[in-house]
Amino acid sequence: MFIAIGSDHAGLELKIAIISVLKELAHEYIDYGTDSPQSVDYPDFGEMVSDAVSKGKVDRGILICGTGIGMSIVANKFPNIRAALCNELFSAKMSRLHNDANILVLGGRIIGKDLAKEIVRTWMVTPFESGRHLNRIVKITLIENKRMIKGK
Ligand code: RB5
Repeated sequence: MFIAIGSDHAGLELKIAIISVLKELAHEYIDYGTDSPQSVDYPDFGEMVSDAVSKGKVDRGILICGTGIGMSIVANKFPNIRAALCNELFSAKMSRLHNDANILVLGGRIIGKDLAKEIVRTWMVTPFESGRHLNRIVKITLIENKRMIKGK
């Protein structure tokens, strides 16, 4: 799979650890930064990754900030994005099975590297269950489209 990854300064260390997992699993990736511990604004990095996923330039995205909350808010503003903040394994698995999440968000100040790596491994291999859940995803897309038509 081709993955877009990005973080702010608070997610940088975890991002480096996660890139090592992507390499280990032989996924291709594009790293949108940040590359230094200097303070930056998470929306700038969330936007680049979310835009790439939203436009289909990559298959999926991974975003990390301090809590994961800011990056989630940014990512879910984009069309076709289903970003899931998962700081434990069960949510990571369910976000794929039921929500077909296409961006995984993690909190660099909340979870340790080992758990984050385990979450990424699980999230990468868990398929979308489809069935009744597909109808729900279609409804999300319809809400998105209605709002776009109304200009809201
Ligand atoms: C940065 O200090 C912090 O606010 C950011 O990483 C994130 O947690 C925002 O939601």
